[in-house]
Amino acid sequence: MFKIRTMNKISPLGLEKFSRDKYEIASEIPNPDAILVRSADLNSLDIPPTVLAIARAGAGYNNIPVQTCSERGIAVFNTPGGNANAVKELAIAALLLASRNINEGINWCKTISDKADEVPEIVEKEKSRFTGSELKGKILGVIGLGAIGVMVANDAVALGMQVIGYDPFISVDAAWKLSRSVSRADTLEGLLSKADYLSLHLPLNSSTKGLLNADKIRLIKKGARLINLSRGALVHEEEIITALDSDHLTSYVTDFPTAELLACPKVTCIPHLGASTPEAEDNCALMAVQQIIYYLEIGTVHN
Ligand code: MLT
Repeated sequence: MFKIRTMNKISPLGLEKFSRDKYEIASEIPNPDAILVRSADLNSLDIPPTVLAIARAGAGYNNIPVQTCSERGIAVFNTPGGNANAVKELAIAALLLASRNINEGINWCKTISDKADEVPEIVEKEKSRFTGSELKGKILGVIGLGAIGVMVANDAVALGMQVIGYDPFISVDAAWKLSRSVSRADTLEGLLSKADYLSLHLPLNSSTKGLLNADKIRLIKKGARLINLSRGALVHEEEIITALDSDHLTSYVTDFPTAELLACPKVTCIPHLGASTPEAEDNCALMAVQQIIYYLEIGTVHN
């Protein structure tokens, strides 16, 4: 009997794949063979010596001590692509939020709710305060062309944007999926200076942490808009705020709010909703469970 410890709520569609005659699944199992996790932070967890595998139902794996696990022979899996569509759809919304003063307009509408029959007239009189720009014809720089970045790039092309992609480690599979209209940036610096919009789609690790620091932010085209649905620590938050305050950046839309960002009027904070759809949760759980089953029962490794 294999024992599986769940560290977060995992979609039942995935858990059902464990046959009950072979697997025991619970959140309290002390000595599991495998751990299934979503966003619980395992970096400070004392991982029991019985653990053979950890599967993350999600793409990012910065909540798992991969190096330590590798040293201990624990296989770590993630589910790249499982939530890509969900994140891609939010990225398209983020591009629009960064452009059209939608938030500001919606919040303002709430302030006139007591104006009864005057509401339509007030709206028409005041709406010019919330004018924004269109995406069509603008340049989008997509940094990171994995499962999500490729989908964002392709859909942005369909919206009429000129898309430039940057990814020195693009996989053959991702390259096949990328629209031929997406042009290639050879250097990050070159991309930063050209794009009107930048969207980050890369994992957080020791080489990407703080990627957008003061030196890089200085290179960004003046007035550009930045989208970050990947991980907050990819950017130097203080430097981003300084760039927004000085109008070097027009707006920042992030899925990773902090108190400082919430206090900044040019930042739109979303509460890490990128993968928060039942579809994405089902896909990721199915992938994670299947990968654990393959590993424990046959020894094969996917992702
Ligand atoms: C991911 O890494 O898959 C997304 O950020 C969503 C999540 O963390 O659950």
